[in-house]
Amino acid sequence: MNHFSFYSPTKVIFGKGVADQIGTETKAWGGTKVLIHYGGGSVVRSGLLDRVKKSLDESGIAHVELGGAVPNPRLGLVYEGIDLCRKEGVDFILGIGGGSAIDSAKAIAIGVPFEGDVWDIYLNKVKETDALPHANIITLAATGTETSSSSVITNEEGWLKRGHNSPFNRPRFTLMDPELLYTLPPYQTACGIVDIMMHTMDRYFSHGGTNEVTDRIAEVILRTTIQYGKICMEDPENYEARSEVMWAGSLSHNHLTGLGLPGDWAPHQIEHELGGMFDVAHGAGLSAIWNSWASYVYDADPMRFARFGVNVWGLDMNWQDPSVTAREAIRCTVDFFHSIGMPVTTTELLGRETTEEEMQELAVKSTYFGARKLGNMKVLEEKDILEIYRNAR
Ligand code: NZQ
Ligand code: ZN
Repeated sequence: MNHFSFYSPTKVIFGKGVADQIGTETKAWGGTKVLIHYGGGSVVRSGLLDRVKKSLDESGIAHVELGGAVPNPRLGLVYEGIDLCRKEGVDFILGIGGGSAIDSAKAIAIGVPFEGDVWDIYLNKVKETDALPHANIITLAATGTETSSSSVITNEEGWLKRGHNSPFNRPRFTLMDPELLYTLPPYQTACGIVDIMMHTMDRYFSHGGTNEVTDRIAEVILRTTIQYGKICMEDPENYEARSEVMWAGSLSHNHLTGLGLPGDWAPHQIEHELGGMFDVAHGAGLSAIWNSWASYVYDADPMRFARFGVNVWGLDMNWQDPSVTAREAIRCTVDFFHSIGMPVTTTELLGRETTEEEMQELAVKSTYFGARKLGNMKVLEEKDILEIYRNAR
């Protein structure tokens, strides 16, 4: 088994009605004045925001609020949140909603005690040494940000989307109530299913794995997400199905599915540029490029893709030529994405073909303008990434 370190310190409270514990939990973690940060209004319409305020009031915790985090959350609102917290003397941040609201809340939490420009942290120019404590109520099973060490922000200047990984991004607690997912539009449910699968697959598809426990956990999470994800699509108020997918979402991105593996992450990086440039939903961007990426790299380790086919899709192994099983596994995955209404090409994603100029811009941006290569299955340079964008049309 390969060496690894595992740190997942977020307290998880899971079940019906747990959102109403926000006041007591925040108090237990020392919050006295909180910023409630949310998105475009789904938490207002569902009544969740009122429940949160009531619970905080009952625990005697003062609060201010800032809505407006959009999908692919913007840096401008992060700056606004930082100013508001400083002015109001906020000592605890609560992100309420999908991954975008929670990522924006994490950026604010890091930005408040930081003296420079928080964007420099996302550009890896400087490291933070502190953050306000933060927690969340997640309303979309997808990103795993409710327990993850990541936050992804888009800078409106140049439309650069950048992720930041740090222990300071770890929430103190998360309240996970599967009933809060019932109001999700089918498209967002499907995007979430893809994202959960991809957090596991971007770790699973990498060289050097000899950690059987890690691999088997990953395969179980994938099978569970596929099985119960289909039920969520057909029966959005099925509590059991929503629960299974929601918990799989956290486990897929708290790093349990990647212990001892280097991970690949090229699909995520290739998608982030699509999100930054075209403002598409993250899960849909992932499904749109995955076939192209997988078809480009699988011959670097056909056995890995074939194993995925056998253990996740129930295929028979073609021992004479595992590449056949590998290709069949890719086809099963793409068919599944299609079956839940997800695009499997960038043309389906955008409603038109990307131009050569756009693809060149995407490719160079994804290498951070030549500063990095992507991936582990195959190490991808700008020319490879360009080819993947071309084949994804
Ligand atoms: O803004 P509101 O009104 O809340 O509506 C949202 C938004 O329109 C809506 N929504 C959320 N919960 C709902 C709901 N509508 C009805 N009922 C509910 N219960 O769904 C829409 C999408 O929300 P968003 O938060 O953008 O989606 P998601 O959770 O997929 O987050 C995507 C963002 O997270 C980043 C992505 O790149 C993207 O920016 N990621 C964050 C990661 C992390 N921090 O660990 C990892 C991921 O790989 C990902 O990159
Ligand atoms: Zn993701």
